[in-house]
Amino acid sequence: MDLYDKVIELSKRRGFLWNSFEIYGGAAGFYDYGPYGATLKRCVENIWRDFFVVQEGFFEIESPTIGIEDIFVASGHVSGFSDPLTECLKCGEAFRADHLINNIVSGADGLLSDELERLIKLHHIRCPECGGNLDKVYDFNLMFNTSIGSGAGRKAYLRPETAQGMFVDFQRLLRFYREKLPFGATQIGKAYRNEISPRQGVLRLREFTQAEAEIFIDPVDKTHPNFKEVAEKKLALYPASVQEEGGEPVAMRLDEAVSNGIIAHECIAYYINLTCEFLVACGIDPNRLRLRQHRNDEMAHYAADCWDAEVYMDRFGWVEVVGIADRTDYDLKAHMKMSQAQLTVFKEYKTAQKKDVVKIKPNMAYIGPTFKNKAKEVINALQNISPGDIKNGTAIVDVNGEAITLGSEAFLIERRVEEIRGENIVPHVIEPSFGIDRIIYAILEHSYFEEMVEDETRVVLKLPMKIAPVKVAVLPLLTRDELIEPSNRIVSMLKKIGIQTVFDDSGTIGRRYRRNDEIGTPYAVTIDYDTLKDETVTIRDRDTMKQVRVSIKGIDLKISNALTQVPLL
Ligand code: GLY
Repeated sequence: MDLYDKVIELSKRRGFLWNSFEIYGGAAGFYDYGPYGATLKRCVENIWRDFFVVQEGFFEIESPTIGIEDIFVASGHVSGFSDPLTECLKCGEAFRADHLINNIVSGADGLLSDELERLIKLHHIRCPECGGNLDKVYDFNLMFNTSIGSGAGRKAYLRPETAQGMFVDFQRLLRFYREKLPFGATQIGKAYRNEISPRQGVLRLREFTQAEAEIFIDPVDKTHPNFKEVAEKKLALYPASVQEEGGEPVAMRLDEAVSNGIIAHECIAYYINLTCEFLVACGIDPNRLRLRQHRNDEMAHYAADCWDAEVYMDRFGWVEVVGIADRTDYDLKAHMKMSQAQLTVFKEYKTAQKKDVVKIKPNMAYIGPTFKNKAKEVINALQNISPGDIKNGTAIVDVNGEAITLGSEAFLIERRVEEIRGENIVPHVIEPSFGIDRIIYAILEHSYFEEMVEDETRVVLKLPMKIAPVKVAVLPLLTRDELIEPSNRIVSMLKKIGIQTVFDDSGTIGRRYRRNDEIGTPYAVTIDYDTLKDETVTIRDRDTMKQVRVSIKGIDLKISNALTQVPLL
């Protein structure tokens, strides 16, 4: 068994992760979170909220997981969100064409379908399942489609990213944030991608949880007010240019990376650092974490720059768990065009500017009687031309395909000096986008340890306290009424102050310690016969296995401090 199998086996056995629809044989790309898994996931999401919602001040919104067609036509997902697919002509199995030639050519994921088909033929690639011939390669759109309402209904899609909800709500968000940049909105929720035959277990899901922040900034000011606080941090950076030269990631200070142009601007560098801090707070090993910049051939259709936080996993190597992208004004402009809504911010100049304004004013008294029922269209056409279009006092306007020549009696040219206080701009967007499910698997793998204890292997999940699904296990040494009474008392003391506690009296004490080690419970409280004499119990530390004897009185405060501040032992 490799580490992936061990972690998945433990996850299934202990109630972290289960195959969905198991009694019906399951379906690839779907996983359930069991009781401990769902609790751990909630803890991870709450740490994310602490980083992005509380500390950064980006309020959370919640938009529908189903989106109407216009949204995804505008966003480019209808036309461009696809993977190359080929099917076996013999057994019908579907494959991602780029994955089939990954080992033969580099950068296969950036190749177009025709090229992939040519290479598959050239290298005589056959079906990995049955050896059959492979069919043509075509672009398979990854969105699940559905319809709203009865009959044919209105075409809709399950959202492939939570981000669009924030873009579509831009006008409302702008008002909420009192019409000033920068501001951010966040969303944690399900997203859906109909992956082609996902074969990476829990790492490639068809329904998954994203936590995304969309940070709207001034396009000409991509500095960050708090960058100086993180400028000296060193991170393992793997720029696109280094990848292209076959180089290795380099540990570099963020301020150096920005001043050398390796990271394009402070804003993206700031969120790269915040991402790493969040991942480490969740239990990702910093030595198995790096930041890899997207090469041009792999950049998403909406991004001008993107850095992935990648985590090293035993079976899969470096895996993307977060993408931090500069989406520029791509999405807002696209939605503006599709919806005709004004998705701009009024940016005031530091000092108002004077501007010569030349305007064409139609002469209604002449146009009305001259053009009668066409007058309105003539006026509109006149208002749509610019003063530069008037040659020798004459304007030629197009009214429903007819060129109409207007002399100076038809309009006045008005010149005046106006004070311009600012302009409407389309903000740019920085987006840190977190794949919560992958992060959870990575946390489990990085927390998984096997240690030899008295000739036995102890399996322990050294989860950060904030992440552990159970914080305290209360264990009576034996299942005797006299030991159960103080145990229950301790359970209620801890629960009353919000500490997730379990009572466990099944099996030997040794087995119960092992069980709690395997789910990462930081502390185990054991109630024994001395408890009946002096109201004391032992607290055992998961990582060191050391024990300390403490009084029941005040144990709630002691454990609560240990969970949030300094460990007890
Ligand atoms: N919002 C980025 C992504 O879904 O990949």
